[in-house]
Amino acid sequence: MSNIISYEERLKNFSWKAAEEELEYKEGNVINIGWYCSDRICNMGKADKTALIWENMAGVERKYSYNDLRLTTNTVGNFLRELGIKNEDRVCLFMDKIPELYIGLLGVLKIGAIAQPLFSAFGDESLFVRLDNAETTAVITQKKHAPKIRKIMNRLPNLKHLIIVDHDPAKPLGPGEVVLDLHTMPWVDELEIFPTKAESPSVLHYTSGTTGQPKGVKHVHYSLISQYLTTKWVLDIQDDDIYWCTADPGWVTGTSYGIIGGFATGATSCVMDVGFSADAWYKFIEKHKVTMWYSAPTAIRSLMKAGADVVKKYKLTSLRHLASVGEPLNSEAVVWSEKVFGKAFHDTYWQTETGSIMICNFPGMKIKPGSMGKPFPGIEACVLDTETFEPLTESGKIGLIGFKPGWPAMMRTYWRNEATYQNKFKNGWYLPGDRSSIDNEGYYWFVGRDDDVINTGGHLVSPFEVESALLENEMVAESAVVSKPDDINMEVVKAFVTLNPGFEGNKDTELIIMNFIRKKLSPLAMPQEIEFVPNLPKTRSGKIMRRILKAKEWGEEIGDTSTLEDD
Ligand code: PRX
Repeated sequence: MSNIISYEERLKNFSWKAAEEELEYKEGNVINIGWYCSDRICNMGKADKTALIWENMAGVERKYSYNDLRLTTNTVGNFLRELGIKNEDRVCLFMDKIPELYIGLLGVLKIGAIAQPLFSAFGDESLFVRLDNAETTAVITQKKHAPKIRKIMNRLPNLKHLIIVDHDPAKPLGPGEVVLDLHTMPWVDELEIFPTKAESPSVLHYTSGTTGQPKGVKHVHYSLISQYLTTKWVLDIQDDDIYWCTADPGWVTGTSYGIIGGFATGATSCVMDVGFSADAWYKFIEKHKVTMWYSAPTAIRSLMKAGADVVKKYKLTSLRHLASVGEPLNSEAVVWSEKVFGKAFHDTYWQTETGSIMICNFPGMKIKPGSMGKPFPGIEACVLDTETFEPLTESGKIGLIGFKPGWPAMMRTYWRNEATYQNKFKNGWYLPGDRSSIDNEGYYWFVGRDDDVINTGGHLVSPFEVESALLENEMVAESAVVSKPDDINMEVVKAFVTLNPGFEGNKDTELIIMNFIRKKLSPLAMPQEIEFVPNLPKTRSGKIMRRILKAKEWGEEIGDTSTLEDD
């Protein structure tokens, strides 16, 4: 049963100190996320409680108690320490959603090293850019993904260790390769936890912006305070919950809530390492009696498409609370979920940089379908005038979302890119780069991004990254990458390309270019379409105007074209 305390009640005398007290943390003391997510729960008398239920495509199931989580994370920590990994060294986790990913991340944190989770579908070039930038010391991976690392290892002088969690003993190991097989090695009972403090770095997540290479978002161990409290208050996680966060820890939701939030609150987390299918998802909920489900709009729209009849095949009465994040949750999806599950998806808004939920539909709060809800207590938010960066006071007026810095999970900088970090602040407000309005009851209504970043199925794609990959092809002269509408993913990537002399824009050319960039980009960043054009719209100074191409795709007004080259 939910013990809902209202949003208004939570706002009264709010202080992050209350969360610190609950976690028995005192300013200046040691705070280590790895310890909080395993040892502390055991110390609370829950060593035998199931921490993780995992299932894969073949239906293989594994369960780990909190004591197993403590021992396996100790084992990873000990192994890394013996390899010579020190605090603040970057250790990349490059795995599918297997238990070793969840355990590995906490093990890295236990020895004070920085966990760098990367999505396992990344190709070698996407990997290279991120490992190079972070000067990563070690990568923990599966044998099936190891070839991608081997291919780039000689270009990464800082990368000393390739750690394989499922190595086949009959096969030889290459230079720098070691085996960390939690199924065969003895688990370590005692590990000296590195005494990380509030500001010690914890997780490094890479995210895409409009320009430049992906940026490493640096988080610290103190982020736990926000992640813990939002998990309890917004996701409404309680002791007896069976919690399913569908996100991959290669992205921030899968880490902040798929690992840290669930374990730090002592709930039972479920992980399904299976691609999307409505039947598989409902079956999983039915089988494990999932009570709290945190997912994303693209998945919800895909479930809607599969229809209400599929829902009827399964017993989903265990579901108590549903929430969503990552992209606009359209009102139809909210209404639909209420109809078919008897529960509405509660939209939450935040981003890699914020580290934890910022705007949300609190449990028990009146939901206005299509709205992101209201700021989490302790978060000072507003929408700002786009020129003066002063908060707008008129309800319904569209402006830039602004947050007063200072909440515990706020990123501390972009890795080795402090200038870009500083650029995210205007007039004392942190700007996440999104536009919104606020209605007369204080509800936020998402309008769109304030830059050219494309959000396809909840994954941010930098047009610059795709354009750069295209330009490396000898046939491509110029390129411009924009979004185009899509029923399920909300938006998808579309590339406009001009060709060098001697090449013809046809289906064959499109295929050759697609195959060329496939090797360089993550599958999520791949354009759905390449359109060959004789030239691209540009400003007089020669800058390609993506917004003109985008407006055409979306059937919108093109707006001011006075700076167009060909006027
Ligand atoms: O544009 C907003 C959109 O996703 C961006 C953050 O993406 P990322 O850093 O990958 O983190 C995603 C998961 C936390 C935001 O700047 N976004 C996120 N949540 C919502 C959203 N857009 C509309 N509604 C949301 N609820």
